[in-house]
Amino acid sequence: MIDLARVRADTPGIEHRIHLNNAGAALMPKPVLEAMTAYLKRESEIGGYETAAEAQQKLDAVYASVARLVGADAKEIALAENATIAWQMAFYSFAFQPGDRILTARAEYAANYVAFLQVAKTHSVKIDVVPDDETGALDPGALEKMIDDRVRLIAITWIPTNGGLVNPAAEVGKIARKHGIPYLLDACQAVGQMPVDVDRLGCDMLSATGRKFLRGPRGTGFLYVRQAMLAKLHPPMIDHFAAPWVAPDRYELRPDARRFESWENNYAARLGLGVAVDYALALGLDEIEARCLELGNTLRTELRRLPGVRVHDLGLRPSAIVSFSIDGHQADAVKASLADARINVSTSRASSTLLDATARALPTVLRASPHYYNTEDDLLALVEHCRRLVS
Ligand SMILES: Cc1ncc(COP(=O)(O)O)c(C=O)c1O
Repeated sequence: MIDLARVRADTPGIEHRIHLNNAGAALMPKPVLEAMTAYLKRESEIGGYETAAEAQQKLDAVYASVARLVGADAKEIALAENATIAWQMAFYSFAFQPGDRILTARAEYAANYVAFLQVAKTHSVKIDVVPDDETGALDPGALEKMIDDRVRLIAITWIPTNGGLVNPAAEVGKIARKHGIPYLLDACQAVGQMPVDVDRLGCDMLSATGRKFLRGPRGTGFLYVRQAMLAKLHPPMIDHFAAPWVAPDRYELRPDARRFESWENNYAARLGLGVAVDYALALGLDEIEARCLELGNTLRTELRRLPGVRVHDLGLRPSAIVSFSIDGHQADAVKASLADARINVSTSRASSTLLDATARALPTVLRASPHYYNTEDDLLALVEHCRRLVS
């Protein structure tokens, strides 16, 4: 069980706010903040290159930490400045041919979908959206029926940005494996919220961010690429770090996943990411998941009790992202009034998950995303605020 008093003592942000925007950016725990500020201070004292040299071991250890988090080898991890860049590095490595098909899910994230649209335009690739089952999750049976020899990539979002849905990522992985189709999983909203194991998921590539449920700093992310897939993927852009210049007419791609990185980096942020990962691992991802599920479910139950409040989450076992709307109230106005009461939530617009939002005729929805360090009282404060709005 998570020691709530301890994790709250580690979280300075709770003194100022009720933070229910962990799907946006979670509050960093003290060890993350301390590692980063100490690193920055050292940079200012002895120089950036010199600090990196001094901290080399710690910086290298970040790869091992991230690898442990997702059940991979450190050589299969590239660090990135966000999840989108990580995802793009994998996606744009594919040499798509006219007629190739990409299979995706209805709740796909906008950044990914516009990239599909781009290759549809430039390479005459076809995008096919797998239908949902009766719970609103991607239907693995329907996916399998859609497979033919033109399917070049399966790319789905595990947990979408706009609600609690958890897509059956491991079921998709089994099908991808069975048919030998590369599988790119957007795990941005899953890492830090639940255990992630790339072998169990059966994905070849996985992208994630640092600032959300992992509680790392902004401007961090990572990409996992399975060893067997690495040699098949040439990064869409390279520099002399990804591909050392070994002869006047030749470069050699790095053999590891760091071929998707470039030379210059924010090392303080990287270090912060590593500490955030270690922090989550020390608490235990099973424990974190149990607490997140419990808080998410409590919040949904309480919100559903309010007249005029609609909870929009799909799936049988939704995560800690709770999406809802209040009849007669614009989501942005509610968010602003909550902010005045020092309660942080965010909103999700249709344009961030356009297919899903259109299919369900969703308005801009409020998104409340508790994390393990939140209390039941935090949730009740949000519910009480909404009760006052509807009464
Ligand atoms: C499902 C999903 N994928 C990808 C991203 C993009 O992450 P980043 O902002 O780190 O690039 C987000 C961010 O909200 C997301 O919710």
